[in-house]
Amino acid sequence: NIGNSTNILWHDCPIQKRDRQQLLQQRGCVIWLTGLSGSGKSTLACALSQSLHSRGKLTYILDGDNLRHGLNRDLSFRAEDRSENIRRIGEVAKLFADAGVICITSLISPYQKDRDACRALLPEGDFIEVFIDVPLHVCEARDPKGLYKLARAGKIKGFTGIDDPYEPPCGCEIVLQLKGSECKSPKDMAEIVISYLEKSGHLK
Ligand code: PPS
Repeated sequence: NIGNSTNILWHDCPIQKRDRQQLLQQRGCVIWLTGLSGSGKSTLACALSQSLHSRGKLTYILDGDNLRHGLNRDLSFRAEDRSENIRRIGEVAKLFADAGVICITSLISPYQKDRDACRALLPEGDFIEVFIDVPLHVCEARDPKGLYKLARAGKIKGFTGIDDPYEPPCGCEIVLQLKGSECKSPKDMAEIVISYLEKSGHLK
């Protein structure tokens, strides 16, 4: 049995992941961006996508906010719904990686167990967890959508970092900090991720 279904068989096609990767000259993977609201996940996702695209690499961004307009429109921000949001996006990201695409996900993904479950879907080395380590007070000062203000005023309940938890990753592949010698702009941060991909063989 698979989930609630019975009598389901897997179909294979002679054209496989390795063939698509050969065509694209890259190794499909998931770059999983995690961090607080306002930490710069979407900006980094965009900078990464632009930079890789200009090098002839095929990318696709799965953005939490955007997917909550469609695929995940039925989900709230309760813990179970956040887990389901992450599970679905993990499964979609797995398909993109299998297609040979460098899939960049941009979700708060506050729980370690949910991120670990997505990691477990991918072949070893193809799930690259990137923690955008921007402190709460900085995200709150930025407040690009005015949501922290609403959360502090009690107008949004269960806002991550205010009255809902965020579990920082332990043992992730890359930690990007706001301050530091080598890490300043989104473009600089994108370069750090790209040098990781060069070393890991994802860019061929
Ligand atoms: S999660 O936790 O991974 O399911 O969240 P995600 O799908 O990434 O959605 C986060 C964006 O939704 C907005 N928003 C909230 N964030 C956190 N907590 C609550 N309660 C909430 N309500 C709305 C917020 O703008 C997040 O956007 P980003 O891009 O992270 O700033």
